[in-house]
Amino acid sequence: MKVAVYKSYGPPEVLTIENAEKPTPGDDEALVKVHASSVNPVEWYTMTGLFIARFGNGIFKPKNTRLGVDYSGIVEAVGKQVTHLKPGDEVYGARNGAFAEYVCVKNHIYPKPVNITFEQAGGVAVAAMTALQGLRDHGRLQPGDKVLINGASGGVGTFAVQIAKALGAEVTAVCSTRNVELIHSLGADHVIDYCKEDFTRTGQHYDLFLDIAGSRSFRECRRVLTPKAYFVIVGGPKGNKVIGALSHVIKIRVASLGASQKVVFFVADFKREDFLLLNDLFNTGKVIPIVEKTFPFEKIADAFRHFGTGHARGKIIVTMV
Ligand SMILES: NC(=O)c1ccc[n+]([C@@H]2O[C@H](COP(=O)([O-])OP(=O)(O)OC[C@H]3O[C@@H](n4cnc5c(N)ncnc54)[C@H](OP(=O)(O)O)[C@@H]3O)[C@@H](O)[C@H]2O)c1
Repeated sequence: MKVAVYKSYGPPEVLTIENAEKPTPGDDEALVKVHASSVNPVEWYTMTGLFIARFGNGIFKPKNTRLGVDYSGIVEAVGKQVTHLKPGDEVYGARNGAFAEYVCVKNHIYPKPVNITFEQAGGVAVAAMTALQGLRDHGRLQPGDKVLINGASGGVGTFAVQIAKALGAEVTAVCSTRNVELIHSLGADHVIDYCKEDFTRTGQHYDLFLDIAGSRSFRECRRVLTPKAYFVIVGGPKGNKVIGALSHVIKIRVASLGASQKVVFFVADFKREDFLLLNDLFNTGKVIPIVEKTFPFEKIADAFRHFGTGHARGKIIVTMV
């Protein structure tokens, strides 16, 4: 089978497609023929060799040469202890090394909602989980809350706008001019074009600020926060080669010392019950995964190049079939 590998840290050119042995599922695993996966910042940072990421994966060159987390596909075989899945089932979920024609999955494997495509399902796990947990768990979103989403048009943002609406919020979304129409169509109540208007000077106040883009300082963002608001840091500019977006998190943490607002940074965690909740949102049509572009497996480096511009519109998908 074909797998994407990187044998040194660097730009997308380090990615190549190689042949590897097709895996055999263990007794408690399913063998999935992968249809699609997607590019997330975690793969970008791992591939480029962000310094802190190297501590876990080799300082000079990667020990684990495989990438990819999100996947969708079809079950081809199951181990003898697996009773809830059978060959032919359409599934999606999360599994390390998902940029491959086959993966063996034990834990995060769920039925693919019938009303979304394999391409859409292949871009769900990291981005949708992050949006859901950022809003509901870390931002303590309550129905009727006024929520501002900065960075609404990317992978996490397009899920966040729709999930916030599904949870009953009044949503204000910040994106660039070319994405205004898309974000309106996802149900945002108000859209602010950051190329034309400074969202920190609108005079509005929000109960929850989901900061995906990390484009502004805490001092600026604080102008639009209610005194008891939650300010949830999801990410920030890629910039720093040593600690990446963490430099932004540190700056916000320091600047928010003594503030009345609750400032939270979190890393999303795959949870079975949250995948099932996402499935409900997809099945009822409340959330639709937005795919900007799909690249065939052999063009995976182009998918990373496109993602690396920092202006993805929804998800960037790689297909293996
Ligand atoms: N904490 C976690 O567990 C977790 C998990 C996943 C991702 N993240 C972080 O979340 C961030 C976003 O991830 P992603 O997958 O959504 O990335 P993405 O798909 O590349 O999206 C980036 C988005 O940022 C927008 N953007 C760029 N500059 C902006 C600005 N000045 N103001 C407002 N929006 C701006 C872009 O829209 P325009 O083209 O309109 O500018 C683009 O849509 C990354 O920093 C990532 O590391 C964190």
